[in-house]
Amino acid sequence: MSVGESSGEGVKGESGRRRRKKVVLAYSGGLDTTVCIPLLREKYGFEEVIAVTVDVGQPPAEIERAKERASNLCERHVVVDAKEEFVQYIFRAVKANANYEGYVLGTALSRPLIARKVLEVAAYEDADAVAHGCTGKGNDQLRFDAVFRTSRFELVAPIRDLNLTRAEERAYAEEHGIPCEEQHRFSIDENLWSRSIEGSELENPEFQPPEEIFRWTKSPEDAPAEPEIIEIGFERGIPVSLNGTRMDGVSLIRTLNEIGGLHGVGRTDIIEDRVLGFKSREIYEHPAATILLSAHADLERLVLTRAELQFKSIVDAVWSDLVYKGLTVDPLYDALNAFIDKTQERVSGSVFVKLHRGNAIVVGRKSPHALFTKEVSFDAKTEQKMAEGFSFYHALQARIKAKMCNFFPTL
Ligand code: ARG
Repeated sequence: MSVGESSGEGVKGESGRRRRKKVVLAYSGGLDTTVCIPLLREKYGFEEVIAVTVDVGQPPAEIERAKERASNLCERHVVVDAKEEFVQYIFRAVKANANYEGYVLGTALSRPLIARKVLEVAAYEDADAVAHGCTGKGNDQLRFDAVFRTSRFELVAPIRDLNLTRAEERAYAEEHGIPCEEQHRFSIDENLWSRSIEGSELENPEFQPPEEIFRWTKSPEDAPAEPEIIEIGFERGIPVSLNGTRMDGVSLIRTLNEIGGLHGVGRTDIIEDRVLGFKSREIYEHPAATILLSAHADLERLVLTRAELQFKSIVDAVWSDLVYKGLTVDPLYDALNAFIDKTQERVSGSVFVKLHRGNAIVVGRKSPHALFTKEVSFDAKTEQKMAEGFSFYHALQARIKAKMCNFFPTL
C-alpha cells in the first residue's frame, strides 16, 4: 500500500455517520508521531487532531519540543503528567523482580499507561478514534493496540497502515514544511526507569557502542575509585527510603539514577527477542533499576521461604513476559499481581548496596521478618542427632534403585 491509501473504513457513529471527526494521537514529538498529524487529516479525513504527550519522566526538553511542534500542526496539544502513576507501575516491576532477557522493561511498562491516558482524553473529548505512530516491526504497536482495543474507539496506526519507511516519512515531513532536524543516529526512548538506545550502527551486533551514546551513566573506568555504600529501605516490597530518609517514588528513582550513574552502574548491551521474532540489539541505561531490583531480590531471599522463592521465580518470569508483550490487559496479569502482593507483605527492611565502578553489590540486609535467626546459626547448639532420621529417608528412592543394581558403582 503506498502513501495515499488507507485501509481504514471510517467511524460509524450512533447515527450511522461515517465521517471521521476527532482523533486523539499519542504524541512524543518525534518524527513518526509528528508526520501522523497531517497524515491523519489528509489520508484518513479527520477534521480535528488532538495530540497527547504523556509525561513519564522523559527529559523536559522533549516535552517542550512536542509542545512546540504540536502547536504548529494540530488543533490541540495536551500534556498529561503521569510520573506518579508511572511510579506505581515501576513499583509493581520491583515487586515482580522484572527481567525480560536482562531488560528492566522501562519502555514496556510505560506504553500501557500512555495508552490509558490517551483513552482518558479520548473519552473526555468524545473522540471517534485513537492513534499511535508505531511501526509494524516493533513491540510498541502491540502494547498500544492491546490497550486501545479494550475501548470503543477506532484504532488508527498510520505509519504501520501506510507501510512508511523513515526516508518516506522524512520526505513527507519536508513536503509539509515540518522540521525534522533530528537526524539522530540512534532511536532513543527515555523515561524514569530506563533509557534505551537502538538502531543505526548498533544494529550490527559486533559494533561497540561509542561512549557518547550514554547520558545517564559514567563509564565504569571513569567512575570514582572510592566505593559508596547506600541503604535502601523497603516496605511491603516497595522502596521507600534512601539512607534513612523517606522519599517519594519519583525523587527516590531520580536520586538513585544520579548516584548510580555517577558510579557507572546500570548499563546493559543485549540481543533481545522482540515479540514478532526479530532479534534486536539494545543498549540500556538504568542505574536506579539495577540498584532497586538487586536490593529487592536480596531482601526477598532473607524473608521468603524456599517454597515461596521457588514458585515466585516462575510467577516473576511469567509477569515479565506478559509486560514485555504488552499483555497487561490479560486477567492473568491481575492474578499474578495478587499473588505477588501477598508475598510482599513481609518484604520490609533495609538493604545495603555498594556502588563501585559499574557494580551494585549487596553487602548487607536486615528485616524484622528475616527467616535467618539465631537458631539456625553455625554456633547454635542444635539437636544434631535429629537430622539422622531425616537423612535416613533422604534420597530413599535413589538408594532403592542402587540396591537393585547390587550397589555396583555406576561411575
Ligand atoms: N526493546 C525495548 C522494548 O521493546 C525498548 C524499545 C525502545 N525504543 C527505542 N526507540 N529505543 O521495550
